[in-house]
Amino acid sequence: MTQAPIRVCITLGTRPEAIKLAPVIRAFQQDPTFQTQVVLTGQHREMVEQVMQLFGLQPDRDLAIMQPRQTLTSITSRSLEGLETLFQELEPQLVLVQGDTTTAFAAALAAFYQKIPVGHVEAGLRTDNLFNPYPEEANRRLISQIAQLHFAPTPLAVENLRASGVVGEVHLTGNTVIDALLTVADRQPDCPIAGLDWSRYRVLLATVHRRENWGEPLQDIAQGFLAILEAVPDAALLLPLHRNPTVREPLQALLGQHPRVFLTEPLDYSELVGAIQRSTLLLTDSGGLQEEAPSLGKPVLVLRETTERPEAVTAGTAKLIGTQADRIAQEALTLLQDPAAYAAMANAANPFGDGQASGRIVQLSRQFLGSA
Ligand code: UD1
Repeated sequence: MTQAPIRVCITLGTRPEAIKLAPVIRAFQQDPTFQTQVVLTGQHREMVEQVMQLFGLQPDRDLAIMQPRQTLTSITSRSLEGLETLFQELEPQLVLVQGDTTTAFAAALAAFYQKIPVGHVEAGLRTDNLFNPYPEEANRRLISQIAQLHFAPTPLAVENLRASGVVGEVHLTGNTVIDALLTVADRQPDCPIAGLDWSRYRVLLATVHRRENWGEPLQDIAQGFLAILEAVPDAALLLPLHRNPTVREPLQALLGQHPRVFLTEPLDYSELVGAIQRSTLLLTDSGGLQEEAPSLGKPVLVLRETTERPEAVTAGTAKLIGTQADRIAQEALTLLQDPAAYAAMANAANPFGDGQASGRIVQLSRQFLGSA
């Protein structure tokens, strides 16, 4: 007699969750032990659609909760309510969440309330500063306390989980972002940007979106970028804008007129990988880019006061530089003007994984559910 497949719900809401879960969804779908349901909260709309299309994935359900200028409370409460009904209907035997977004936290809590075991992909990242990044540091800590399967990307994340006294199984799997990155990088993606001749400039690829950088830090960051362009005539800045108006409006106002600044809509993931490959240097407050750039041998200047990814700093490919204009300009100029300083940071290092994390997560989930 063949056994009924195990029902797994993979929940996601934002672009980074979609990128990091795409290879996991693929791996579950290829395994006949599982019946896999992909559930979107809809915290993001266009930015998730792009990734789903790129990886050829279809959501089974979409709660479509996104609102312009949404608050953390509205994301949490709308996701919780929607997922309660959905989990009652789908009756998953395991719910997988990824990372530290508000979707991930709400999905973990909704599953916990129905006593459905939660598997946490990319568990154990910590800065030990509750407000940096905000609200992500709290989200991931809260998820750790209610998850029963913790998929840690690095040995440091395993240590952090043990120190947090979590209940359940802790496993070292690698980060699934490397699975996604290697798949896309293999396709040698192009990155055409209107008006930007990649061979003419040394391109600085920048992204900014974090809540703790809203307001004054964002202004400082933009001033830092302008100072770099002022000092280096063959530098250009490529800045794909986040969809959030709180971030894009000030950046457009401060940088939009400069002839060597290229502000674009969010790039799709394959274009983004193509852009990393063609860039000289990255300036970012994103977590994912701190993982991707070292794998592609690009230095990253991290526009934050803390990082939950010290592995890249230890590997020598990332440096935490904060958001002060002077510091940003000085650090970037050192890399652009001193070949030895550049070479020291441009190592291809892969501290986050080997591209096989998704397969391990499927295997460990099967064992956990007693179907190994
Ligand atoms: C969220 C996550 C953050 C993650 C980031 C990646 C939380 C609290 N934050 O922050 O951890 O690093 O995603 O981008 O979970 N918008 C659109 N279309 C989209 C996406 C966003 O228009 O496809 C606009 C909407 O106006 C929305 C706003 O962006 O209100 C903010 O989105 P939100 O998910 O609240 O915050 P992010 O900064 O994207």
